[in-house]
Amino acid sequence: MKDKIKSIKKEIEQYSGSSEEAVEDFRVKFISKKSVINNLFEDFKKLSVEDKKEFGKTLNDLKTLAKEKLVSLSSGSTKNNTKNNTIDFSLPAEDDSVGSLHPLRIVRNNIIKIFRDIGFSIEDGPEIEEDWYNFTALNFPENHPAREMQDTFFISKDPDVVLRTHTSNVQIRLMEKQEPPMRVVIPGRVYRNETVSAKSHCFFHQVEGLYVDKNVSFKDLKDTLYYFAKEMFGSDTKVRFRPSYFPFTEPSAEMDISWKNGWLEILGSGLVDPNVLENCGIDSKEYSGFAFGMGIERIAMLKYGIDDLRLFSENDKRFLKQFRGVH
Ligand code: DAH
Repeated sequence: MKDKIKSIKKEIEQYSGSSEEAVEDFRVKFISKKSVINNLFEDFKKLSVEDKKEFGKTLNDLKTLAKEKLVSLSSGSTKNNTKNNTIDFSLPAEDDSVGSLHPLRIVRNNIIKIFRDIGFSIEDGPEIEEDWYNFTALNFPENHPAREMQDTFFISKDPDVVLRTHTSNVQIRLMEKQEPPMRVVIPGRVYRNETVSAKSHCFFHQVEGLYVDKNVSFKDLKDTLYYFAKEMFGSDTKVRFRPSYFPFTEPSAEMDISWKNGWLEILGSGLVDPNVLENCGIDSKEYSGFAFGMGIERIAMLKYGIDDLRLFSENDKRFLKQFRGVH
């Protein structure tokens, strides 16, 4: 018995291996019911009282040694050995538990930071909106075809309440209650009554900009947006302005950026139409302003090479986790 105990003790001490199998082999050999140590306990029962006295403690020590060794082996193993109820707190966390910012949030934050750095503040406004703010005050006359530019979800008729079709509604809300000068960007969600597909969606996100002061000129608009384009897309980005039409700006322009070998439209802009200023109680002889609006999805699609708008709202983890660590 003495020799057996000695050799098992040596074997336990020398045992190494941290794989799951190695730990399990150890458990079977030294701890389980059929283990060599358990066999010794069987033999022990048959010993004389004298011998029991001699070997009792050594045998128990052997058992303790085996148990401790198992704990230390399994804490080095790559997986928790749940069978033995040992938990290794030093293991790295499960991969999936780390979240990421949504790509639209990343792009929104980037846009906001660029404008904040040059003195713009951040505002927001309601998504459920009265006709006055979404259309009429922005110089969309009633029953005018310009309203057809944006397919609208109506919440109620008479008075007309809509899901805002753009963030331009907040321009009116701010100009009504604030005195110029004002320099703001307004991020938010907007809604259009469109069939959902890879290219269009019934909701998406915009960032609106508004700058009202004395002597604001088209040059200010161009300088600001050129600065934005270079910050957002890289310092060698070129921009080009094309004449366009929006009811609330005059003149109006769309801005394209140089992209790969061509041009891509990125936003709408213009000088705030004097009618709009007057609708908000701002003297258009004293003040002028510029405004712009851009789609966050569109910019995110360009930056990250995303080709389907639906990915943004499906909450598919395989898509979202690609943005881990990006901000
Ligand atoms: N509201 C326009 C749209 O949703 C975008 C826009 C164009 C906003 C020109 C502006 C602007 O502020 O000046 O299509």
